[in-house]
Amino acid sequence: MKKTWWKESVVYQIYPRSFCDSNGDGVGDLPGISSKLDHLKTLGVNVVWLSPVYKSPNDDNGYDISDYRAIMDEFGTMADFDTMLAGMHERGIKLVMDLVVNHTSDEHAWFQEAKKSRDNPYHDYYIWREAKDGREPNNWEAAFSGSAWQWNEATGEYFLHMFSKKQPDLNWENPKVRAEVFEMMHFWFKKGVDGFRMDVINMISKPCAADGSLPDAPVIRPGFLQPGFMMVTNGPKLLDHLAEMKREVLAKYDCMSVGEAPLATIKQGVEITNEETGSLNMLFQFEHMDLDSIGGHMMGKWAYKPLELHDLKATMTRWQNALDGRGWNSLYLSNHDQPRPVSRFGDDKQYRVESAKMLGTFLHFMQGTPYVYQGEEIGMTNVRFATIEEYQDIESVNMYREAVNDRHMKPAEVLESIYAKGRDNARTPLQWDASANACFTSGKPWLKLNPNYREVNAAQALADPDSVFHYYRRLIALRKANPVMVYGHYALILAEHPEIYAYTRTLEGDRLLVVCNFSGNTPMFKLPADINFGAAELVIANLDVASGTDLRALMLRPWESRVYRLR
Ligand code: NOJ
Repeated sequence: MKKTWWKESVVYQIYPRSFCDSNGDGVGDLPGISSKLDHLKTLGVNVVWLSPVYKSPNDDNGYDISDYRAIMDEFGTMADFDTMLAGMHERGIKLVMDLVVNHTSDEHAWFQEAKKSRDNPYHDYYIWREAKDGREPNNWEAAFSGSAWQWNEATGEYFLHMFSKKQPDLNWENPKVRAEVFEMMHFWFKKGVDGFRMDVINMISKPCAADGSLPDAPVIRPGFLQPGFMMVTNGPKLLDHLAEMKREVLAKYDCMSVGEAPLATIKQGVEITNEETGSLNMLFQFEHMDLDSIGGHMMGKWAYKPLELHDLKATMTRWQNALDGRGWNSLYLSNHDQPRPVSRFGDDKQYRVESAKMLGTFLHFMQGTPYVYQGEEIGMTNVRFATIEEYQDIESVNMYREAVNDRHMKPAEVLESIYAKGRDNARTPLQWDASANACFTSGKPWLKLNPNYREVNAAQALADPDSVFHYYRRLIALRKANPVMVYGHYALILAEHPEIYAYTRTLEGDRLLVVCNFSGNTPMFKLPADINFGAAELVIANLDVASGTDLRALMLRPWESRVYRLR
């Protein structure tokens, strides 16, 4: 396996709107990020993935871009961007931008032209279909509720939008679209950025029927629109488009690329991230994010069920094994679209600190590149706002309206699913200290803070040597010092244990044992007899450990995690 900087890196994701506001308008901004770079430096991360900062009407908080080469007004200016980038580079931190090119905003100049007439030169930049029997061309539901099709009066046809109706999907079959995207990527590379995270990149090639139609999705919810995602991911041209992007752009720079890929299979993971023949460095696959939904991705994410540890073991292990020596994994439990991991998979009350550290251990010792989402490093938790009016996320708000108005669900029941899965859980402003609004803003925050900021905040975490922050700092430092953490071969042990997730990592005679208790109970850990060792040296633990512990029979405390080096 080749050694590269992006395999050895730990990435920190910034969601700029919620990170730090420098001018009191209640919205995080680029100068705010610049003012907090030492926080990242102290943590030890060496790459930042910055969620979109481009000009946008903010229907989906910047994932609806109206100008790919300009900075969003609320976030600052291009000069602020250059200052921020220089500040990162001075600290040895690389910058990965968000590339959102499955769709644009409907306010993008291309779409403004495209919608004018069928013979407009930009018309074919987007995906249009005739009405079918006077209605939408098919039964697809958009990710943010409602039909995936929107009528355009001027041309008398529908356009496709897999997200909101202000996010029309681009037509990647049109070579001009691809050329525009590639040129725009060069623009950012020439400014000095170090790579791209690619939004829903496996949706850029849509599988059409032979006649060019986009067929109905299978009916799994009779009487309603049907989830359309499986109909628009992994189309026949996906690998060609990515190969072209690699040839035309990525191969020309020493850069990092990570593709967001809902519904990605292992086969695609291997194909796309293959060191020799693949086009991207790694993918964000979603299998482990779907494990706590009834029916997985098929029924959508809102039908919550508790995670079964067996499922997590099976999924993670399949990806670890399949990509070992062939491709590369990204490792994440958290981002701006997911609930907070300590609330989702840990215990955000009595054992908040312990379980946050355990989850960090579980993830950072696996093979792949770990991602830390802002606030994860201080153990931020989910939030429960009393009314839907306090939520901002288009996905949650639209889902709520549809569930209550059209499906006649009880508001309290719908709110419960937002508490469990809503994206605003991850988007409440970063909690910097215990002062008003956690020092995120001097004005009125665009989204309310999590009221626990007086106890859970960065200032507290920095001052407390036992905090989640200092534990993450140690995890990140260990990764830099121990090639086995990056490159070692993964092997699951105790596959059947319902509460303990344990595995080894091995690289040329160096072997680590990782033991994580995913419960508030006190299960017994017994190292399998076929794992031979002379001595076990503690590498890191989230609780105090007495010396001379017997690995053949070890009673774990709630949410305990330990890592040993076996000699
Ligand atoms: C995935 C992004 O992570 C999410 O925030 C966004 O809403 C959709 N793609 C659409 O761009």
